[in-house]
Amino acid sequence: MSGSLRVALSVVIATVAGCGEIEPVEPPGFADAIALPTPVDLSPDPHVLELDLVARETSLELVPAGPTAMWGFDGHVPGPLLEAEVGDRLIVHFHNELPEETTVHWHGIRVPNEMDGVPDHTQHAVQPGDSFEYRFELPDEGLYWYHPHVRSAGQAAAGLYGAIVVRAPDEPVVDEAVLVLSDAAVGDDGALLPADSGGELATLFGREGNVVLVNGRVRPTIRARVGVPLRLRMVNAAIARYFQLALGTLSFTVIGGDRGLHDGPRVLTRPVLTPGQRLDAIVVPQGSVGQTIALRWIPYDRGFGSTEFRDPEDLLYVELERGPDRAVPMPTIPSRPFEPIVAATPTDLHVELTRNDRDGHLALGFDGVPGWEATPFPARFGEVQRWSFRNTLEWSHPIHLHGFFFQPLDAMGRPTGIWADTIDVPVDGSASFLVRFDERPGLWMIHCHVLDHGDAGMMGMIELSR
Ligand code: C2O
Ligand code: CU
Repeated sequence: MSGSLRVALSVVIATVAGCGEIEPVEPPGFADAIALPTPVDLSPDPHVLELDLVARETSLELVPAGPTAMWGFDGHVPGPLLEAEVGDRLIVHFHNELPEETTVHWHGIRVPNEMDGVPDHTQHAVQPGDSFEYRFELPDEGLYWYHPHVRSAGQAAAGLYGAIVVRAPDEPVVDEAVLVLSDAAVGDDGALLPADSGGELATLFGREGNVVLVNGRVRPTIRARVGVPLRLRMVNAAIARYFQLALGTLSFTVIGGDRGLHDGPRVLTRPVLTPGQRLDAIVVPQGSVGQTIALRWIPYDRGFGSTEFRDPEDLLYVELERGPDRAVPMPTIPSRPFEPIVAATPTDLHVELTRNDRDGHLALGFDGVPGWEATPFPARFGEVQRWSFRNTLEWSHPIHLHGFFFQPLDAMGRPTGIWADTIDVPVDGSASFLVRFDERPGLWMIHCHVLDHGDAGMMGMIELSR
């Protein structure tokens, strides 16, 4: 169908639909350039998504010098986009065809502990040639993602990550794109740099790739209709890079984050996603037909020297197509009322993010203790804990809690009105959150999602029991 016919058709539908609302009809192939693979669903049950997932070697065309050998789920970077509805079951027959052991962690999803993908603590690592079956329910709406938890920085930087969309039944249908933001560290010959390139100084810095990627592509172009709201569902899957974003001069109407929709929209011009975080935002493309606007990465100061000498980088282009003649209203997004966690006497935990080298080697940690030497923090079913982090280092640390959402608090200790699973502890600063534990016993990890930092010891465990 020609573009103009599609436009005409959308106007007709709008007229038929009446009430001034326009039926969303994307320009044909509008997002082909960033299409993500989808899995074959092996289950006849509409409320079960069952699939095979293979971690294996693959190769991508990222630079003119030649192909880049990487690792990918099902040979794709990112891996397949898993789409389901709230309450559906996910069954993943995972198979490891990598030359080393691995696991799959389901970032943000409230899984039973034995499905959390943390080697030694929740399962045995999956050896080369072996399989593991993940099965759990998807209790919450939102954008989630999956990645390994063995040598996390190296394996994720090699390309092992993918997105999961869990939809609520009352979400409106609008033009939508899932954007998996990441980067790759590629040498002049096209080969991926080794995970330890640059040594411990690079680990301390957190390795940022020199090629920024959107859905595994370098500067792809999508199309959008002028004036028609476009929902961008973004996850930062990079191991260290913070994504501060700008889209021309447009503003982002943020409607959700780590745990699905917020209680209402918040308008931002330059949202920031730390590694691990998600952002759900609506943009309304403005400009003239044929014009292209760039989604850009804007340097963000996440620590010593990280913004010096750096320029913005284009991530993605949006080419504008003709929109409908009448203005299209913003879609009505259901709001999820925010209920602050209330506890008369929450358990207070104060944690310093520290560096205490061991035997002349870099070791980061909580309170001077690297993760591998630490004793777990205890927690009880139903307990409310208030975690406060103080950063003693010249780097920001995005702290991620497995298995639970928490409520970030502002400097006065009041809830900020959102739910999250990853919180930024800025350079020389602090951050705190409230969490209420439910009844899923086991060892739950909490760590810095600059994965180089996590692997270097900035991680701890919470032992949840009755
Ligand atoms: Cu995406 Cu242990 O984290
Ligand atoms: Cu860190």
